[in-house]
Amino acid sequence: MKTDALSPLSAARIKAARVLVVGDVMLDRYWYGAVDRISPEAPVPVVRVTREEERGGGAANVALNVAALGAQATLLTVVGEDEASHKLEKLLAQTGVKTELRRDAGLKTTVKLRIIGRQQQLIRLDFENTPDQEILASQAARFDELLPIHDAVLFSDYGKGGLAHVSDMIAKARALGKPVLIDPKGSDYSRYQGATVITPNRAELQEVVGTWHNEEQLLAKAQSLRQQLGLTAILLTRSEEGMSLFEDSGVSHVSAQAREVFDVTGAGDTVIATMAVLLGAGMTLQQALPWANRAGGVVVGKFGTATVRLEELIA
Ligand SMILES: Nc1ncnc2c1ncn2[C@@H]1O[C@H](COP(=O)(O)OP(=O)(O)OP(=O)(O)O)[C@@H](O)[C@H]1O
Ligand SMILES: [Mg+2]
Repeated sequence: MKTDALSPLSAARIKAARVLVVGDVMLDRYWYGAVDRISPEAPVPVVRVTREEERGGGAANVALNVAALGAQATLLTVVGEDEASHKLEKLLAQTGVKTELRRDAGLKTTVKLRIIGRQQQLIRLDFENTPDQEILASQAARFDELLPIHDAVLFSDYGKGGLAHVSDMIAKARALGKPVLIDPKGSDYSRYQGATVITPNRAELQEVVGTWHNEEQLLAKAQSLRQQLGLTAILLTRSEEGMSLFEDSGVSHVSAQAREVFDVTGAGDTVIATMAVLLGAGMTLQQALPWANRAGGVVVGKFGTATVRLEELIA
């Protein structure tokens, strides 16, 4: 690892970087309990809930990662007018993320509730629905106001409908010369046209370009998608294989950095958040690449927290 790659940038520059995160948020909720008996009502275990844990997920986790690195994070998103949205707001407020929540009384804030008994997940319950046009238009209007006071824009697409206006927002950000990073979703990426970089994982890229059997095929497929969408780059995150950056000049590969792997969930969020902070601080994609990979390596070695601090990155 070349630690001098950060040197042209001071920590002060990273702390000054302002990242606007836009996208679908969710509340990850975990209920832990004891299982002592089977229900008399149906052949299912009865869980006596003894402990509850809550975490910001989706775009909220991405914003948390930006803030953990010491940079400025603003989170623009659509939520319901419910208990879960207030919980999310509270969790975010404790971390220095500036929240721009558009509240829609008709919307249920996305919640993923896991019920865990005897160390195993028994069921996951998802609460969600799609935001309406009016609230999305108000979000788009707020985006226009926030854009000039940010250095990079990050879209976290979880396919929940919060990014209906993403194409417009990309065009506006690019017109102002701001780097645009997107964590993509789905099988049609045409709405991401003109972004700076998208960061699919292997399964996500496969859904769009089909499978590849060797690096040569991957290169051809990735470059053709990149050109078709007018992207500066595609950053393919490859779990234990590290990551590959496809640009006009070719492909750069970095190997995975993890010493020990405990918890891989959220590694993709950490990677894109790190890229956004570093691009926002003025680094090139090439310069940011090893750092984003390193951040992914650090976060998979942690239990519970899914963020990396600047000191851990530089250490
Ligand atoms: N098993 C692993 N071993 C080493 N490094 C890993 C591993 N899994 C993830 N990483 C690191 O984290 C980066 C992102 O991981 P991955 O490609 O799994 O993203 P992802 O699937 O989008 O993750 P998620 O959606 O769960 O947040 C990898 O490029 C690598 O640097
Ligand atoms: Mg991901």
